[in-house]
Amino acid sequence: MGRRNAGDPGATRSGHFTRELFAPLPRRYDQLAELLSMGQNGRWRTALVQQIVEGSTALSTDPVVLDVATGTAGVAVEIARRCQAKVVGIDITEEMLLAGRRRVEDAGLAERIELVMGKAESLPFPDASFDALSFTYLLRYVEDPAATLEELARVVRPGATVASLEFLAPPNPFWRLWWWLYTRILLPTGGLLTGGTPWAKVGRFLGPSISEHYRRYPVAWTVEAWHKAGFEGVEARAMSLGGGLVMWGRRRGP
Ligand SMILES: C[S@@+](CC[C@H](N)C(=O)[O-])C[C@H]1O[C@@H](n2cnc3c(N)ncnc32)[C@H](O)[C@@H]1O
Repeated sequence: MGRRNAGDPGATRSGHFTRELFAPLPRRYDQLAELLSMGQNGRWRTALVQQIVEGSTALSTDPVVLDVATGTAGVAVEIARRCQAKVVGIDITEEMLLAGRRRVEDAGLAERIELVMGKAESLPFPDASFDALSFTYLLRYVEDPAATLEELARVVRPGATVASLEFLAPPNPFWRLWWWLYTRILLPTGGLLTGGTPWAKVGRFLGPSISEHYRRYPVAWTVEAWHKAGFEGVEARAMSLGGGLVMWGRRRGP
């Protein structure tokens, strides 16, 4: 699929578009990620990491965790700080990974975190390689979310915990109106003022991308897709009045 305009949420499904969107961002990614989530990203991430830490350490004394769409490695570092797991982070944007490597070095975790370049849709790992898997802000960027979930399921062991984090549009009409005003007006303006043109582009892109994603793939569809991909015990927890969604489940046995 060719590149589309940033204002076109369908453009999320082009890997080329994704790399162009993220390549200029790493320098200030972590501060601005907080802005995009109204300061909630840290809380959501902690809830995600909790699932991964509990699940991976219950399954193995020496767990290996895969963090997909790892970006600047924020999730990978938090997992490695909270338990003794080895973590492999994978992402398609080289610039994000470069910033991630610096972060891993600064955290003194280079022995336990490895960052590799690759696509979630075709992971360069054998079947059943990992004891847990996290993915954050990924499914809006892939062409076929159901097929991507199957690929994620392929690389984890039976019983492995898989957990995800994604934005959500608040279901309550009152909060949804505020969310709409925030994402359509404040975000593009705030992005421009704090991060310049690349962040204004993200600010314009994000709200329509979230709305379009849930129009095509509502939460109930996504829960069902997790089941079809081979997960059980699937739970979805809306956080921060429905602005974020943490999901988790376990890989079914053979
Ligand atoms: C919003 S960032 C999130 C980064 C990180 N997970 C975090 O929470 O800080 C989304 C990341 O997904 C990556 N990404 C998008 N589509 C991908 C794909 N198909 N395969 C691997 N990574 C992808 C982008 O390169 C980007 O680094």
